[in-house]
Amino acid sequence: MILSIESSCDDSSLALTKIDDYKLFFHKKISQEIEHSSYGGVVPELAARLHATALPKILEEISPYLKEVKAIAVTNEPGLSVSLIEGVMMAKALGLSLGVPILPINHLKGHIYSLFIGKPQRLPLGVLLVSGGHTQILDAKSYDDIKILATTLDDSFGESFDKTAKMLGLGYPGGAIIEEYAKLGEERFNFTVPMQKSKNIAFSYSGLKNQVRVAVQKLGEKTQQDMYDIAASFQAAAISHILKQCEKVFKQTHFKEFAVVGGAGANQTLRDKMGILCEKFGSKLYLPPLEFCSDNAAMIGRAGIEAYKLKRFALPHEIKINPKVR
Ligand code: KG4
Ligand code: ZN
Repeated sequence: MILSIESSCDDSSLALTKIDDYKLFFHKKISQEIEHSSYGGVVPELAARLHATALPKILEEISPYLKEVKAIAVTNEPGLSVSLIEGVMMAKALGLSLGVPILPINHLKGHIYSLFIGKPQRLPLGVLLVSGGHTQILDAKSYDDIKILATTLDDSFGESFDKTAKMLGLGYPGGAIIEEYAKLGEERFNFTVPMQKSKNIAFSYSGLKNQVRVAVQKLGEKTQQDMYDIAASFQAAAISHILKQCEKVFKQTHFKEFAVVGGAGANQTLRDKMGILCEKFGSKLYLPPLEFCSDNAAMIGRAGIEAYKLKRFALPHEIKINPKVR
């Protein structure tokens, strides 16, 4: 089995995945949402301290199976450096004590492989990756050949939900709560969809965030309905922006199969609207199960199996932490 470790942001997670049939044998995640909620975002130093206790706690549960571990897959990029270090240090210690190799895994590749947990990979694939740190359209041809077709110029899609939630005093993370509020609201605020006139294929959320800030300030004292309406108007513009950029890409490149991955890929309105867009362009839409959209070690383990087959082993001193790499 592959033992995988994910600690790139605020989720501490371990998984055991069978190499032969890709089946997930064990998976556990301890999230830190409550601890970060009052700050309106992740506090890196706090995240690192919480990983330092959560990861060994989960490890205890799988100690009877450690003798069956053939390699350790660990997220080494991108993410918060102090959070990444916690998982990577654990991987190094386990690698040395168990005498097994380490497989450094790119977190974004992990999100793509969330589609293939428990099954063989199906590539090539077009991918929309929407998370708290990234908004990208990717052309994923193989494990090693993944091209970025579009990316964000500033904030990410998920981050814009988090910031809207923060402005409305709704805590962190904001994605799910904004989606719930949006269901109860009307699109009465006319937020403009970013980059409508631009020919470039890219994402930008800082302008929309600013529009939300100005609207919230203008309202002053807000009613509950105002909050619902802001959420509905914001979500509509944020998703419309995604759809417009995907449409531009679809006009240039035909994907027989297309997928939406990443934490913000749990947004049901986005899933539904991407389904309609894919149908219009003759693409089959793939979605990972909701439980594997947000950060988890199962997806790192699944990517780890491909890395294992490709012998992408690293010695402990060779593993680099790259907080910013794509
Ligand atoms: O992939 P992920 O767990 O972490 C990163 O790699 O960043 O994504 C977390 C992000 C957060 O910004 C969160 O607010 C957003 O995904 N998110 C959502 C929803 N659920 C989570 N955004 C929009 N709608 C949702 N339902
Ligand atoms: Zn992620």
